[in-house]
Amino acid sequence: MVKKEKITADKIIELKKSGNKISALTAYDYPIAKLLDESGIDIILIGDSLGNVMLGYRNTLPVTMTEMIIHTQAVSRAVGNALVVADMPFGSYQADPKQAVSNAISLVKAGAEAVKIEGAEYMDAIKRIIKAGIPVMGHLGFTPQSVNKLGYKIQGKLKTQRSKIKADAKKLEKAGCFAIVLEMIPPDLARSITRSVKIPTIGIGAGPDCDGQIMVTYDILGLYPNPPKFVEKYADLAGSIKEAVRKYKENLRPRSSDG
Ligand code: KIV
Repeated sequence: MVKKEKITADKIIELKKSGNKISALTAYDYPIAKLLDESGIDIILIGDSLGNVMLGYRNTLPVTMTEMIIHTQAVSRAVGNALVVADMPFGSYQADPKQAVSNAISLVKAGAEAVKIEGAEYMDAIKRIIKAGIPVMGHLGFTPQSVNKLGYKIQGKLKTQRSKIKADAKKLEKAGCFAIVLEMIPPDLARSITRSVKIPTIGIGAGPDCDGQIMVTYDILGLYPNPPKFVEKYADLAGSIKEAVRKYKENLRPRSSDG
């Protein structure tokens, strides 16, 4: 077991300053969150990817505040050291900045220590949440809640997209976000953003030059059937589970005929 100090949003910024890589993974349940925390992961994200990964939805759009709260409670009960970040689900921050603050507070009451919001379109909501004392992590590039607008593809290939993503990163930094997830953008764009902001960038499918990396845990452990192409698998838990279940089944003794 790796012994570590409690990670805060400020500590995540310090990790960039000191040139240390930031490790982040998702968790949605108590046992996985406990294993990640005991392994010394810096950030545990209750991603709204729980919609696909845990609940079998086609995408993250149906995920509700109630679902995020239940999974945030489970994860936060397991975590002692990592920074616990919860995603604000689709519909929880777009309509009204006041409602966004109240939803962020509900996630904090469930155990989150920071929230993540996709895009830079709802700056008022982001600023108010930070003003309420809740650290906010930004998320740019491919933002899954906009899949119907963006399509499931790499963002930032066109010049106009590149400039917008770079400008959005600056806006999020200025608003007071403590980190920015960069998802599925060209590695050179991720590198350039990483150099241009003081807050850490956490990449996913964005090349090796971000300040940290985040992955969906079920993807890297080989538990989710359709991981994205950029995922490197570190285990084949699906295979191990099937093998264990097969052995369990084999070991069941037939009932004796006299009852
Ligand atoms: O929902 C999620 O899991 C995410 C990350 C993978 C960045 O947003």
